[in-house]
Amino acid sequence: MAIFIDSSSIKEIGKYQRMGIIRGVTTNPSIMLKDGVSGWQGIEARSKEIARLVAPLPVSVEVTTNERVAAIDQAKAFAKWADNINVKITIHGPCGETENLEIIHELETVHDIRVNATAMMSAQQCFLAAMAGASYVSLFCGRVNNMGYDSREELGRLRRVLDRFGLKAKIIAASTREVLNVIEWLDAGAHIVTVLPSLLEGMLVHPYTKETVQMFLRDAARVEASLNQ
Ligand code: E4P
Repeated sequence: MAIFIDSSSIKEIGKYQRMGIIRGVTTNPSIMLKDGVSGWQGIEARSKEIARLVAPLPVSVEVTTNERVAAIDQAKAFAKWADNINVKITIHGPCGETENLEIIHELETVHDIRVNATAMMSAQQCFLAAMAGASYVSLFCGRVNNMGYDSREELGRLRRVLDRFGLKAKIIAASTREVLNVIEWLDAGAHIVTVLPSLLEGMLVHPYTKETVQMFLRDAARVEASLNQ
């Protein structure tokens, strides 16, 4: 699995999909807004387009409500849009409403819908989501670091506990902030890091590689010129 792309831009997803380096896509309402998606129909159209583009790779689409019945209805609708769409549910509501864990459990066990439990800041939250049956648990490592904690310790602890109890959940390390996050979070225990497109570019392009390739091309031109003499 390793790398997902954290984007709803068709151009960016297509670019990295063609390189063969992504294994899934994550979106959220903030990402959709930034990428120019508007209205409910816009979310549906963009989600379907992404799902078609990367199928059978998984695509996470987040519900837009914290109200139980509406969230379950949305999740059922998302799951019908495409086989490879899974549903993001925040671990609790905006004021700490704990019902969300019931929603996660019901979607996975009653409706057979894959859930990405999201907006989590600790291994403890992720462990509970995994116990409830979530297929993916998203730890917002960049936000954890911003609060002054080392997300790598949470990742390591979480991975050990999931493995020890044989829980199926895959850990998604999210909220990437720096190029280095990708390799360091995978090394710390994440199954997957969901990466911003700009950071994928940063992982790939190196100034010294540019200089080296320029040298090869300059010298190749000189070799060709000498052949023609
Ligand atoms: C991905 O699943 C998350 O929604 C995303 O990485 C959150 O990023 P942010 O913390 O930069 O908003």
